[in-house]
Amino acid sequence: MANASLDRALGLVREVPDFPEPGVLFRDLSPVLADADAFRAVTDALVAALPPGIDTVVAIEARGFLFGAAMAVTAGLGLVAVRKPGKLPAVADRVTYALEYGTATLELPADTLAPGARVVVVDDVLATGGTVEATAGLVARAGAHTDAVAVVIELAGLNGRSRLPGGAPVTALLTV
Ligand code: PRP
Repeated sequence: MANASLDRALGLVREVPDFPEPGVLFRDLSPVLADADAFRAVTDALVAALPPGIDTVVAIEARGFLFGAAMAVTAGLGLVAVRKPGKLPAVADRVTYALEYGTATLELPADTLAPGARVVVVDDVLATGGTVEATAGLVARAGAHTDAVAVVIELAGLNGRSRLPGGAPVTALLTV
């Protein structure tokens, strides 16, 4: 269905060449966040795509927090903020995963994700899929279920979807 508000919002994504390194075309969501109507349109579209039964948003630091928190409030869901290392006072679990060069670690805060929870994992961008894959691993080890993945932008050429939990529908509002 045509959605002029969403189209306008996604048209605000700024393309920044050679950031954070030469040859990379960075998609900057800052203008979307700064525009009240655009932020609302993106949030509503992500919420509208949720499958039934979701009770928890698991959002990934840092930009995933922005969209995940907005979704949680809009949809009346709990929010679990998965963080980069060294930020949390109490850690339930952590995962270290491979990047192109080196590794990254994410931590799940203690006493947040209940066994059996039905989760949507939220981030701003899906690129290689490593970040969402690692987060889904934390969700699974907590005894919860990743029933959906929601991102604003998917970089399709990197085929991140292939690494995501089987069966969980992926919503990407903008595929580039
Ligand atoms: C970016 C983006 C995603 C991740 C996607 O995070 O926000 O979290 O990369 O990449 P992947 O699919 O290849 O794993 P970044 O580390 O730049 O974090 P930030 O949001 O804190 O800037």
